[in-house]
Amino acid sequence: MALLKRRTEGAEVDFDHLPRHVAIIMDGNGRWAKRRGLPRTAGHAAGAENFRTIATYCKDIGLEYLTVYAFSTENWKRPAEEVSAIMGLLRKYLLEAIGRMERDRVKMRFLGDLSPLDPELQALCRQTEEISTHYEGCQVNICLNYGGRDELLRAARAFARDCVAGEKAPEDLTETDFGGYLFSAGVPDPDLVIRPSGELRISNFLLWQSAYAEFYFTDVLWPDFSKEELHKALAAYQGRSRRFGGV
Ligand code: FPP
Repeated sequence: MALLKRRTEGAEVDFDHLPRHVAIIMDGNGRWAKRRGLPRTAGHAAGAENFRTIATYCKDIGLEYLTVYAFSTENWKRPAEEVSAIMGLLRKYLLEAIGRMERDRVKMRFLGDLSPLDPELQALCRQTEEISTHYEGCQVNICLNYGGRDELLRAARAFARDCVAGEKAPEDLTETDFGGYLFSAGVPDPDLVIRPSGELRISNFLLWQSAYAEFYFTDVLWPDFSKEELHKALAAYQGRSRRFGGV
């Protein structure tokens, strides 16, 4: 998509040199709701709606990969009604996404251990992955029951099993091989990780993959993180000098 460098709402973005992979921690839904005197679940509903808007926009501008943190391995500690509201929003989103997949042609993938989820939700996740396997263009990864440490432990266990089976040797393990044991196997590392809501931490998100990512933090809460806010994040990224440990 040749949109060239142009003035966009929020900030000037060079659409011909976008990051290949943007990852977002969709934080601040609860505070967004609280400020409006609404239940936290209303914040998640607004967050899910915003996810749809931003994911569609990312596809439209030609971004290759968008990864979002929808539910962490730690989020089970939340009240049962809140967990079930988030799962309900995911179910609703997936049912709608399945209905419009041929039109949208966004490839979907889920990163995380889906096995503790409701079987119907698991089936919807697998269905959206299968339908979109052959789509090309934008890939949206939804991190669901995902934790970076959990992912690394699972990878270490799987590698150890392959060693015990005689298929791998510890001394031969490379970073690329190890990446193949992660939920994100085959997905390039994120170039830009965005965290709205004013929190300045990574919260167990893409620990291995974000080794050389650029980080962008903003006080804006996720349901208010508009296209303009995305432009600001992309412009900030484009103003950085990435050296990957070199000079
Ligand atoms: C963090 O905000 C948000 C979550 C733990 C849930 C994110 C889920 C959604 C946006 C809805 C479902 C997703 C999709 C992909 C349809 P928070 O609750 O921690 O906010 P707070 O820090 O203000 O309390």
